[in-house]
Amino acid sequence: MSAHKIIIAIDGFSSCGKSTLAKELAAKLGYNYIDSGAMYRAITLYFLRNQVDFNDHSAILNAIACINLSFIFNEQTQKSDIYLNEEDVEPYIRDMIISEQVSTVAAIREVRSFAVAQQKRMGRKKAIVMDGRDIGTTVFPDAELKIFMTADPEVRVMRRFKEMYATNPQTTIEEVRHNLELRDYIDSTREESPLHQADDAILLNNSNLTKEEQLEIVLEWVKDRATNVTILNP
Ligand code: CDP
Repeated sequence: MSAHKIIIAIDGFSSCGKSTLAKELAAKLGYNYIDSGAMYRAITLYFLRNQVDFNDHSAILNAIACINLSFIFNEQTQKSDIYLNEEDVEPYIRDMIISEQVSTVAAIREVRSFAVAQQKRMGRKKAIVMDGRDIGTTVFPDAELKIFMTADPEVRVMRRFKEMYATNPQTTIEEVRHNLELRDYIDSTREESPLHQADDAILLNNSNLTKEEQLEIVLEWVKDRATNVTILNP
């Protein structure tokens, strides 16, 4: 009997470990992992580089028409890197300058329609784990497994601070805290697909869980929903 492939949607607040879980889950299942946040970050990079006025409707539409986003698997990191018009922009999209603007850009209706249409196409063949803010509510409302992740705010701040400090020692805990609070606020209060837990999503608070523990819990949820699951590299 062939394996039954499913769609796994992971949503939640900033920096609560969605991408770590999604990446490990995809590796265990042999699924594709798509970081939808990277798409909004790459669009923001394009807007900043080209000085697109966030309030100018036609400038936004013209800019979007010039954007081509693709994901290419990176053997070294074992995750897909995002390319903006054939350029690997992974090295730039996590900078604070992008984090400061991304939620404003991601709240623009035209930007969301563009990104969501591409995300939906990526899920046509199933066997995908996608993380973001509206994956279980808007992108894949019929996903077989929906997870809403959360963690204590201070745990999230320290996780993101350590990540950012490793590449930029100028980073301060205060600026990271401010950025996470601001993004969570904009993401959950915007008009277009605000961040909220889908009715059928399972809540996962990982404040006190190790990466291994959370993966083990979620793999059980997958086994409940997909028949004949093969776990790779057990
Ligand atoms: O920093 P973190 O990894 O938590 O965020 P991200 O997944 O890289 O997403 C960056 C930003 O993109 C979020 O704060 C949202 O404003 C936006 N986003 C969104 O609106 N919808 C998604 N599906 C994914 C991200």
